[in-house]
Amino acid sequence: MVTKIVEKAINEQILKEEDSSRIYISMASWCQVNGYQGAAAWLYAQADEERMHELKLIHYLDDRGGTAQLSDLKNPVNKFKSLLDIFQQVLKHEEYISASIHEVYSVSIKQNDYSTSNFLQWYITEQTEEESTVRSILDQIRLAGEDKGGLFMMDKELSALAAKKRASLLVTTSTAAGA
Ligand code: FEO
Repeated sequence: MVTKIVEKAINEQILKEEDSSRIYISMASWCQVNGYQGAAAWLYAQADEERMHELKLIHYLDDRGGTAQLSDLKNPVNKFKSLLDIFQQVLKHEEYISASIHEVYSVSIKQNDYSTSNFLQWYITEQTEEESTVRSILDQIRLAGEDKGGLFMMDKELSALAAKKRASLLVTTSTAAGA
């Protein structure tokens, strides 16, 4: 059984994961209409991954006798200056999500809820990986600068990264479903 305090902290995180998914869909749509098909594919896959993060938290609350509560979300931004602008915002957002996960972890420790702390370890590791991936994408976009050829190559690279992400999402989803 989770305490009401832990339940509230997890519900706030559920909202943030759902919000993340919508933010990335909005960014993906911008990329698609601005000729960055690889970046769009990566962001759409990222949006699905965020939804998986959201569902994992909902299932956890269900399993521990808590109640998931979905809440209202604000409209995501849909205007961006460039691919660089988008990935700078992705990194800032992921850093915010990491800090938020650490906060939920800290609540679980204060509540002596070691099952939740243990469960949240997965998210802590996931956030470290996500931040690292986005920093590396950003480095390459910065290197390409205004060079159209460089950005084209980067977009191709993002397309390959999106395919990898989709494959790992399939494995994670089927493992979670017990397949
Ligand atoms: Fe689920 Fe990227 O935070």
